[in-house]
Amino acid sequence: MPLFIAETTLEGDDAAFALAEALERMQPPALSAECYDVEGMVGLLKVAATFSLPPNEVMLAVLAEAFGAAAFTVATVSQHTWSALTTLPGEGAARALAAEMEAMEPAPYGVGAFEIEDGSGLWEVGAYFQDAPDTAAINALAAKAGAKPFVISEVPDVDWVAHVRRELAPVEAGRFFVYGSHDADRVPQDPARVPLQIEATVAFGTGHHGTTLGCLRAFDRLLTEGIRPVKVADIGAGTAVLAIAAAATLPEALVIASDIDEVAVDVSEANVAINGLDGRVECLEAAGFAHPRLHEASPYDLIFANILKGPLIELAPDMGQHCAPGGLVILSGLLAVQAEAVTAAYVQAGFTPVSREDIGEWSALVLNRN
Ligand SMILES: C[S@@+](CC[C@H](N)C(=O)[O-])C[C@H]1O[C@@H](n2cnc3c(N)ncnc32)[C@H](O)[C@@H]1O
Repeated sequence: MPLFIAETTLEGDDAAFALAEALERMQPPALSAECYDVEGMVGLLKVAATFSLPPNEVMLAVLAEAFGAAAFTVATVSQHTWSALTTLPGEGAARALAAEMEAMEPAPYGVGAFEIEDGSGLWEVGAYFQDAPDTAAINALAAKAGAKPFVISEVPDVDWVAHVRRELAPVEAGRFFVYGSHDADRVPQDPARVPLQIEATVAFGTGHHGTTLGCLRAFDRLLTEGIRPVKVADIGAGTAVLAIAAAATLPEALVIASDIDEVAVDVSEANVAINGLDGRVECLEAAGFAHPRLHEASPYDLIFANILKGPLIELAPDMGQHCAPGGLVILSGLLAVQAEAVTAAYVQAGFTPVSREDIGEWSALVLNRN
């Protein structure tokens, strides 16, 4: 099975490291993402990520734009992998050895230096190669750095497609079927089901988390009861999974998805487009309700807010102001043990509790505006 290498270039160490981290959090995630200085181009870095499945090109384009990087190129390489691992004391020596390995010819496609977190002060340096590396050459580098000789082995063939599918299986929440592009062939054909394709990248919300699941299940129950909100706000939208669920089931509704994090807003826009809902969900960057558009479209008859206990409590008075009388809020991001405190803040802001569902340690609350 082949591997896929996505590469781009951008300026600045901080941006490059942040982009590499974002690639490792994409779903399906990059197996590794590395930054390299581009020789002869001061300040320019190459970021290369290795994927076991073809990476989602829409998401790569979103990330490139968000981090100011050039468009990604994606190449396929045969998956014949050799690993070389060693340990040595000290971060400086480990990073220097990793840098020397990156400069080897033929170059490894991934090099990493990690602290072994057992208090020993030892670091592990590892590299992946497409062909068996030159043992004498890399052990000469190890000896120079004061490291043990490398342990070189061929990495057994892993069925990565099956692995990723197991890790990120679709999530069913009432009528909603939340899936990533790798599971497009598993979408139920039943017209009563609502498929939501969510590519998570750096933003939170694939449906795998108890908080997202709780919000989707609460929304599904409200729809089953015949509730049809016409104005919906998703505050702290992440991937916009909840806003997309609303737009997909309420064809007439005005739906706004906002997030404090600008990258989440880009990801939201991409997910809206992937689901064929262009123009149906307005994606905004805002802390809470602090955006003129959120004020203009207020009041809402449904507000989702899956954020943490602290911001939920802080937002309670604004929620009271922006939720229409008789309207509903679906709240999560809180632990079951925090449910009473959050409920009390919302009762004080003019809400009446309607329901609560605990999923594992997380809780999802529905409250009605008096
Ligand atoms: C737990 S995630 C929820 C994502 C998605 N709504 C879901 O249900 O899966 C919380 C999101 O809220 C955002 N957030 C945190 N505080 C916020 C605030 N005060 N205003 C708007 N967004 C906020 C974070 O950036 C993050 O994307």
